Amino acid sequence: MPKRSKVSIIGAGHVGGATAHWLAAKDIADIVLLDIPQSGDMPRGKALDLMQSGPIEGFSTRVNGTNDYADTAGSDIVVITAGIPRKPGMSRDDLLTTNAMIVEQVSKSVVEYSPDTFLIVVSNPLDAMVYAAWKASGLPTHKVMGQAGVLDTARFRTFISMELGVSMQDISTVLLGGHGDAMIPLPRYTTVGGIPVTQLIEPTRLEEIVQRARDGGAEIVKLLQSGSAFEAPASATVQMVEAILLDKKRLLPCAVYCDKEYDVGGYFVGVPAVLGADGVEKIVEVDLTPDEREAFAASVTGVKELVDLISAPATAVV
Ligand code: APR
Repeated sequence: MPKRSKVSIIGAGHVGGATAHWLAAKDIADIVLLDIPQSGDMPRGKALDLMQSGPIEGFSTRVNGTNDYADTAGSDIVVITAGIPRKPGMSRDDLLTTNAMIVEQVSKSVVEYSPDTFLIVVSNPLDAMVYAAWKASGLPTHKVMGQAGVLDTARFRTFISMELGVSMQDISTVLLGGHGDAMIPLPRYTTVGGIPVTQLIEPTRLEEIVQRARDGGAEIVKLLQSGSAFEAPASATVQMVEAILLDKKRLLPCAVYCDKEYDVGGYFVGVPAVLGADGVEKIVEVDLTPDEREAFAASVTGVKELVDLISAPATAVV
């Protein structure tokens, strides 16, 4: 008999808690929710509360809250949401140093107990954090990825839906680049029920919507006043988890390792990728206009700069 899959979520804060919630409701894996010892019994409290919605919602997911990595042993997928979130006025890049230290420590602890796991990173600044997790974990590139594009495209799809009064479900799109201000939504590859969006929204208005999608995270940070978005980031993460666990071969925009692909040269950036039982099974290269190629190159440069900052050896103190 096949056993139930196991997904561990490291960081039981807003995004971690919401990821557990959306995932529990799918009833496709048991969940371990882990946070630091300083958080005390908080992960146990969240886990118990969530499990008690099972009888009402009709799922059988077991949720275990813990501070002990031994409980994550044998995870099929580990989601990393540990780290600090943005405050109003901060960019994702402002979180770099603190979150890099956290993500590296977490990744090392994870593979000690789950050496064959897939790793999905959600902590920001996303593309640099995936790189840090990959290096620290020693996992092969096809097993390490970051969640950003599913969220960014969901934001773009939502705004188009609001503009046209058409269901969000009927809007399909693709996006490239890092999870920052330089992300590149592609209206050219966006359809509404199969109809190119460029036939339905005039260019100036479409550009405004593209910009709102780029600023989608900051808009929520400002509205919430403390912390950053968590429901949609968590839901996006669960879509990736489901694609792998159920071998769905979903074509999703994810931060994955690109070397020759798109001439990236060995960094994690957002591109369309097929996710299935082997993790990142394929990267799809779409045709880009010279402008789009230039924007993508600039976005990749931004990611490289952040990675260089966290990879630089510490300056010797004399
Ligand atoms: N190991 C495990 N958990 C940790 C560690 C660590 N080393 N360091 C911090 N945490 C935990 C915190 O204790 C906290 O419970 O990570 C959790 C983060 O939760 P929140 O502060 O609520 O932040 P959240 O909104 O969930 O965002 C987490 O996801 O989307 C990104 O930008 C966001 O980087 C941020 C991350």
